Amino acid sequence: MTRPHIEPFIELNEDYKKFKIPGFIGADYKTLSLDTDKGACSLKVRMNAGFKRPPGLSYSDLEIFVLTGEVKIGGDTCAEGHYLFVPAGIALEAMEVADGCELIMMYNDSEPSFEESDANHDLALKEGFISVNSYTDMPWQGGSIVSPSVATGLFLKLLHFDPLTEAMTFLYCMSPQYMQDNISYHDCAEESYHIWGSSWMMQFGELPTGGYFWRPPYINHGSFRSKIIVCMLFPLLVIED
Ligand SMILES: [Fe+2]
Repeated sequence: MTRPHIEPFIELNEDYKKFKIPGFIGADYKTLSLDTDKGACSLKVRMNAGFKRPPGLSYSDLEIFVLTGEVKIGGDTCAEGHYLFVPAGIALEAMEVADGCELIMMYNDSEPSFEESDANHDLALKEGFISVNSYTDMPWQGGSIVSPSVATGLFLKLLHFDPLTEAMTFLYCMSPQYMQDNISYHDCAEESYHIWGSSWMMQFGELPTGGYFWRPPYINHGSFRSKIIVCMLFPLLVIED
């Protein structure tokens, strides 16, 4: 079954649970959304001080976004705003966390998995790997890449685009007093994590920092607005069931 409609959900009100699977011991998680058939899920993850993991791969495409703190991956220090797209089968270099960090981790195809390896799987799509600090190394662009018309005051950073499915992930920032005054729906699922700030949606109310939704296809939504400002991590996913 695809993931159910979850909206609104505020993860800051929930407690962390301890991971008990190889490669994740020493980290905690909160489930934001879960496909109970495939195990695909979006998680908030806290890697505690001293967390270490050898190089390894998972059997799902994985997106990682650093919310707070730092994690060292190989020779790179990934700080707040760092985004990784790790295709299934790509061996991520060893991870090391000195002082703790919080991440959004999205396993798009199947349940979280880890197999120690310093070599990519033969079928891994190496060209699909992305590692970039979205805060410091990418510009905002105005307008929208997904809707034919939007009100002024919306800014995006496209983090990932899948040319086969047209699924995409972006940072989405509404400026103060932004208002999009229409109702819409679409044929793909969308999810959003509020990194900072709050937004208001006519059907679902106010969603603050730490707010999250998973919205299946064809759910009416809008109008929506932002009183002060909001920055959201925003994947749009094509459901292939
Ligand atoms: Fe939408």
